[in-house]
Amino acid sequence: MILNRLRRVVISGTGSHLPEKRITNRDLEGMVDTADEWIRQRTGIIERRLAAPEQATSDLALEAARRAVADADLAPADIDQLIVATVTPDHAFPSTACLVQHRLGCRQVPAFDLSAACSGFIYGLAVARTAIAAGTARHILVIGAETLTRFTDYGDRGTCILFGDGAGAAVLSRAEEADDDSGIIDTHLAADGSGAELMILPGGGSRLPPSPEMLAKRQNYIKLEGRAVYKNAISKIVMLVNESLERCRLNREDINLIIPHQMNARIIESAAKHLDIPLEKIFINLDRYGNTSAATIPIALDEARRENRLHKGDLVVLVAFGGGMTWASALLRW
Ligand code: UT7
Repeated sequence: MILNRLRRVVISGTGSHLPEKRITNRDLEGMVDTADEWIRQRTGIIERRLAAPEQATSDLALEAARRAVADADLAPADIDQLIVATVTPDHAFPSTACLVQHRLGCRQVPAFDLSAACSGFIYGLAVARTAIAAGTARHILVIGAETLTRFTDYGDRGTCILFGDGAGAAVLSRAEEADDDSGIIDTHLAADGSGAELMILPGGGSRLPPSPEMLAKRQNYIKLEGRAVYKNAISKIVMLVNESLERCRLNREDINLIIPHQMNARIIESAAKHLDIPLEKIFINLDRYGNTSAATIPIALDEARRENRLHKGDLVVLVAFGGGMTWASALLRW
């Protein structure tokens, strides 16, 4: 059967990079009509990171990439392809991936950006896995990097409390050991553009190019239907985890760790309750970084490793829901 000839794909290295400057809930109290307690209770967020004025998405991505490549015991010249998942690229073009490819010192390999908002990193993982499994690449660098604060309206209390900047990266490699069952077992990607307006950056693209009117209407900032996203996110996360387990004929008791997209602690806790999975098996770091869109999962994955929350043989689920709307999951044997 053809599937048996496809190569197994493992995560061979991870890295992350967060800018130093923090925006605390107290800082936000001085900007909009909000309160530390409200933000903590409704979102679980305590602080987020803010890129320095001279830092763009590629700068954060580059640092995370360097760490992931070193962690995989590889050199930039070993990388066969780069994917940067982002909705906040340095420029509309060239791609952020091309900037990283050059500055990291990679060969002239394929490099491209992938736009799937908060699901972007898992989308990247699935694309990279397919290329490696098919034999067209051996090591692919998948980066999730964002500078969402550049597009956040610090006059809108419904959105400015949520977002932060950061980057995470993973190297995907063709597995070497034949008798090992580690690697990516299952991925699932989906999208529904009928919900495009729920999370949108309306201005700055070809629909609404930059103009004084566009700026006056603050259309250069992220708009969000928080409540609608909230409800959709819970049901999609529950569905993604259940369907992935079903496809792989596994039970929820088999899961060792779930790394969900970090959007709101209440969303994550409610999904865990519906799934009947204890919170100890869910990785949460949004209290420190808020929502960094495509970067939340690779940052969390890197932290989970460094905090010794991942052990050989563990069953790990990555799951995300976000703008598009898009949603995605990946099941891994560590
Ligand atoms: O990665 C995908 C990106 N999307 C998201 O991360 C968003 C997911 N959604 C959420 O996280 C939540 O919906 C929010 C945190 C955005 C809002 O929480 P909520 O519990 O859904 O509140 P709500 O929008 O239903 O608003 C409840 C009240 C409203 O006041 P009234 O109309 O009841 O008087 C809001 O005006 O809370 C008010 N409110 C605030 N109050 C204090 C909204 N934002 C704030 C705030 N501080 N920052």
